[in-house]
Amino acid sequence: MKAAILKSFGSQLAIEDMPEPVLGTGEVIVDIVATRVLSYMNEVFSGERKYALDLPVIPGPGGIGRVRATGPDATRLAIGDWVFCDPTVRSRDDAVAPDITLQGLSARDAGGLKLQKYFRHGSFAGQMRLPTENVKPLGQITSEDASRWCALGTMLVPYGGFLAARLQPGETVLVSGATGNFGSAAVAVALAMGAACVVAPGRNEAVLSDLVRRFGDRVRPVKLTGSENDDRETMKRAAGGPIDCVLDIMPPSVSTTVVRAAVMTVRANGRIALMGGVGMLGGAGLELPYNWIMRNCITLHGVWMYPPDAASRLIALVRSGLLRLDEYEVTAFDLDHANDAVAHAAANAGPFRMTVIRP
Ligand SMILES: NC(=O)c1ccc[n+]([C@@H]2O[C@H](COP(=O)([O-])OP(=O)(O)OC[C@H]3O[C@@H](n4cnc5c(N)ncnc54)[C@H](OP(=O)(O)O)[C@@H]3O)[C@@H](O)[C@H]2O)c1
Repeated sequence: MKAAILKSFGSQLAIEDMPEPVLGTGEVIVDIVATRVLSYMNEVFSGERKYALDLPVIPGPGGIGRVRATGPDATRLAIGDWVFCDPTVRSRDDAVAPDITLQGLSARDAGGLKLQKYFRHGSFAGQMRLPTENVKPLGQITSEDASRWCALGTMLVPYGGFLAARLQPGETVLVSGATGNFGSAAVAVALAMGAACVVAPGRNEAVLSDLVRRFGDRVRPVKLTGSENDDRETMKRAAGGPIDCVLDIMPPSVSTTVVRAAVMTVRANGRIALMGGVGMLGGAGLELPYNWIMRNCITLHGVWMYPPDAASRLIALVRSGLLRLDEYEVTAFDLDHANDAVAHAAANAGPFRMTVIRP
C-alpha cells in the first residue's frame, strides 16, 4: 500500500510502498478514504513540539474509511461499513489507568510509547490497523462526505472537555481560545450540547464577528487587550450572568496569564477544563490562588482527548442535525502531495478550516 512515512524529525514525509497491515484478533483494518492534517503537524514533524513519536512511522491522527477486515471477535462491524478511526488507543491490561497512545501522533509517556510499538502507524496511508473498539460506525455516507466527516476528530476534543466538566443544557460557557481551530469547534459543540450562551474571547475582531455570524447571539464575543484583570472583567460582563464552565484550549505559545484571565471568570462551584498545549514547551506554570479554588469549590479537570464512548455520542449529535459539519471549508490533497498538505494546513489554521489527505 502507498503511505507517507516520517523517517526522522525535520525531514519531509517520504511517499513509499509499505507492506499492508496484518490483522490480529481484537483488531480491524480500515481502508482510509480521508484523514485530517492538523495545522501544527509541521511542528510535530520538525520535532519542535517534542511529541513522543517513535520513528520511522506512518503518521496521521485517524480519519474516515471503510472496514476492510475484522477480527473474529467483532460482532457488529461488517466489511464495507463507513467508520471513524479513533486514534486514542488505550492499553487493555489496566482498566483504571490505561496507558494511552495517539496512534500515528503521540504518546503520553513511557507506557504510551510501549503501546505505540504495536499500535504504531497512523492514517496517512491506504490502510490502517486499529483496536476493534476504536472503529466507530458512521452509518451511510458518500465518499465525498468522508472529507467533512474528518471534522469529528477536531470536535471530539472539546466534546471530551465538556463531558468531563459535565456541561448541562442552559449553562453559560467560556471558551478560552475560541478563535482557534479547536476553540471554534468548542463553540459549536457547546451550543450543540445546549449551552445558553458561549463567551468567545479573542484578539481578532474579524474572526469574532464571524463566530457571531455563524451561530447568532448565543455567542458573546470579547476583544482581548492583554491586560489580565481588565480582560477578566470584560469576559464576565459579556456573559451577562455567572459563567458555569470554562474550557481552555490554547496552543503552547500562549502565556499562562492569558489562561488565568479566562479560567478565573468561573462562578463559585464552577468547573474548568484545561485542554491546551500551554506549558508544553516550558514557561511559567498556571498559578491559581489556592484560597480562590478552595473557597469557591472550583473543580479543575485536566482533559486529554475524550472517553471511549465519546465518538459514537458525537456522531449521534451530528446525525440529529444539532451539530453541523458543513461549517467546515475543506481542502483536499492526495497522498503523493502529503507534504503540500502539511504546509497548507499550517498556512490555513483557524476556525472551521480543514486540510485533508485522501489516500
Ligand atoms: N487536550 C487535548 O486533548 C488536545 C487535543 C488536540 C489539541 N490540543 C491543544 O490545543 C491547542 C490549540 O490548537 P489549535 O489548533 O486550536 O490552535 P490555533 O488554531 O493555533 O489557535 C490559536 C488560539 O490561540 C489564541 N492565541 C494565540 N496567541 C495568543 C495570545 N498571545 N493571547 C491570546 N490568545 C492567543 C488565538 O487567538 P487570536 O485569534 O486572538 O490569535 C487562537 O484562539 C494545540 O496547540 C494543542 O496543544 C489539545
